[in-house]
Amino acid sequence: MDDLKSKYLSQIADAADENALETIRVAAVGKKGEVALKMRELGKMTPEERQVAGPALNALKNEINSALVAKKAGLADAALDERLRTEWLDVTLPTRASRTGTLHPVSQASEELTAIFAEMGFSVAEGPRIDTDWYNFDALNIPGHHPARAEMDTFYMHRAEGDDRPPHVLRTHTSPVQIRSMEKMGAPLRIICPGGVYRADYDQTHTPMFHQVEGLALDTDISMANLKWTLEEFVKSFFEVDDVELRFRASHFPFTEPSAEVDIRCSWKDGTLKIGEGDDWMEILGSGMVHPKVIAAGGIDPDVYQGFAFGIGIDRLAMLKYGIPDLRAFFDSDLRWLRHYGFQCLDMPSLHGGLSR
Ligand code: DAH
Repeated sequence: MDDLKSKYLSQIADAADENALETIRVAAVGKKGEVALKMRELGKMTPEERQVAGPALNALKNEINSALVAKKAGLADAALDERLRTEWLDVTLPTRASRTGTLHPVSQASEELTAIFAEMGFSVAEGPRIDTDWYNFDALNIPGHHPARAEMDTFYMHRAEGDDRPPHVLRTHTSPVQIRSMEKMGAPLRIICPGGVYRADYDQTHTPMFHQVEGLALDTDISMANLKWTLEEFVKSFFEVDDVELRFRASHFPFTEPSAEVDIRCSWKDGTLKIGEGDDWMEILGSGMVHPKVIAAGGIDPDVYQGFAFGIGIDRLAMLKYGIPDLRAFFDSDLRWLRHYGFQCLDMPSLHGGLSR
């Protein structure tokens, strides 16, 4: 019995983990373990022998069981200590430098102009960038033979031979949203639609994809004077100045009559673009009184409603406001440029809080 005791107590002391401990438990005090076998021998003993051996075997069993329990607790403590030693975290370490991105000047300018027009009662409308040539041209009084179609350098979607769905184009301007908005909302109506447009063109002030914001106001008593006031107020708010030198030029668009284009005085000296000075003019928008045929195409009676519309180049506005001389850089995704011209994304522009900071 002493041999058994010293054998199992030392095995328990040496056990490396709970699995080893369980193996020892089965071998020592399990149902078929050595202590159980010894207990079976009690039957063959004389009553005197049994009186000595019985309690001694029970004591041995208890001692081994206690040693197992104590060792198990010890192993659990050791495991916890080991986890605490390896899985630690220094909560006093400095945090990683924050790496927030910046808002692209086009996004910033869009947010700004949306805030300004919202204040004047215009809501934001949207339309698809891939549209049918009916919405992009016909409904805007640009029929198939019209030279304006050729002038726009349109990207046409490929059509397989035999595919007789109506032709689709990458919209060349945001004007088709005028038609979609009239169809959806009827009159009276006051909307702007900012978004991307496409034309095959590429130089310092033209890129194949650029951004416009369309405006449309329809009611029963709207005149060219309302258009001029709206545009002047917008430009002053956007450039955050009391006065901007604007040039209204008589022009022609198929979808307006009469039509006007608006330029802003600016200078391009030594690679810098400045607004409000110099002898150059940058065209920023087209506008006019909506042609009756366009109003009718939108499902509205042109004898009751009339209104004005405009299309402003957002990228050009951003170039002028932030002095960015080359439009092509807007779309190069050069990180240094984006960091330099980007805006803090949490500063939402508002007329009360300030447009740009
Ligand atoms: N859609 C014209 C363009 O892209 C711009 C324009 C001119 C829009 C006059 C208008 C407008 O709404 O009335 O060149």
